[in-house]
Amino acid sequence: MNIFVTGGAGYIGSICTEELLNAGHRVTVYDNLTEGHRSAVDARAKFIPGRPEQEGDILNAVTSAKPDAIMHFAANALVGESMTNPKKYFHNNAFNALKLADAAVEGGVKKFVFSSTCATYGPPDRIPMTEDLPQRPINPYGESKLMFEKILQWYQSIYGLEFIAFRYFNAAGASEKFGEHHRIETHLIPRVLQVVLGQLPQAEIFGTDYPTPDGTCIRDYIHVLDLAQAHILGLQSGKTGFYNLGNGDGYSVREVIQMCEQVTGKKIPAVEKPRRPGDPPRLVASAEKAIRELGWKPKFAKLEDMVTAAWTWHKKHPAGYPD
Ligand code: UFG
Repeated sequence: MNIFVTGGAGYIGSICTEELLNAGHRVTVYDNLTEGHRSAVDARAKFIPGRPEQEGDILNAVTSAKPDAIMHFAANALVGESMTNPKKYFHNNAFNALKLADAAVEGGVKKFVFSSTCATYGPPDRIPMTEDLPQRPINPYGESKLMFEKILQWYQSIYGLEFIAFRYFNAAGASEKFGEHHRIETHLIPRVLQVVLGQLPQAEIFGTDYPTPDGTCIRDYIHVLDLAQAHILGLQSGKTGFYNLGNGDGYSVREVIQMCEQVTGKKIPAVEKPRRPGDPPRLVASAEKAIRELGWKPKFAKLEDMVTAAWTWHKKHPAGYPD
């Protein structure tokens, strides 16, 4: 198939692009490189520098690529930042995404695959979290993604745009070639590994008074290669709807730091800090629906696999991508 990938220069988009190409698909990457890196775009893909804020830019790009499907990864995705700069999140994650959905309808694109998030749920009533739980986001990031989920539902029922929205839990790990490099890094695993690389003096634990066994937040980590496989299965399936992607295992911030110590063989100093606004205490997925309906089988379900892959990539690329 011919796939139009937005955000294909970013962390998850670059690795999904690589896996799509490995599976024999053709890929056009559309990315404005504010978060992504030109050198993270697989050389086999066609690259279109994006200017999503310019009138007609998205539509022109989609019309020229004539894709069978669109995969929409491009987004701002930092919970903390969204609490201080919500405007950025609503403009990019909702409004620019709407332009893309319009272009999909106008260009007769058959399928839309959207990177949504477990942040659309907010603090859940029960764990593990299934797709039918109420969605009550507690940060503008989650709200902006939920807005676009709703747009997709209406576009499907009225315009017939088939979609799959994957609600990712916490992506981690790397492929051999591509990994996680945010210009401003806020994510737990890369930040802890930066301590080992001597780039940060100590790890920081945001909040130690949560209602969890060790007082720190719990998250469900998923290997980025397993995320990519789910996207390829989603593309080929005739399904429409929402799917959680996680492993059903929750790890606290302290447990993640311990795993980084085990994998790197280094003691990692850590300091306790106040809570980070917008963080739900515990998010753990049930991905039974994706397993049952898409035939998804995670290959790297252990946190150790993810931290090992991340560490291998960061050791090879201590400064990340060159651009
Ligand atoms: N944390 C620390 N210290 C750090 C960094 C993070 O204690 O230096 C904590 C956070 O407060 C949070 C947990 O570690 O409790 C995980 O934080 P991340 O920033 O790694 O990830 P988030 O759970 O906030 O968010 C990530 C992505 C979102 C995605 C979400 C789904 O950034 O895009 O996972 O849960 F939607």
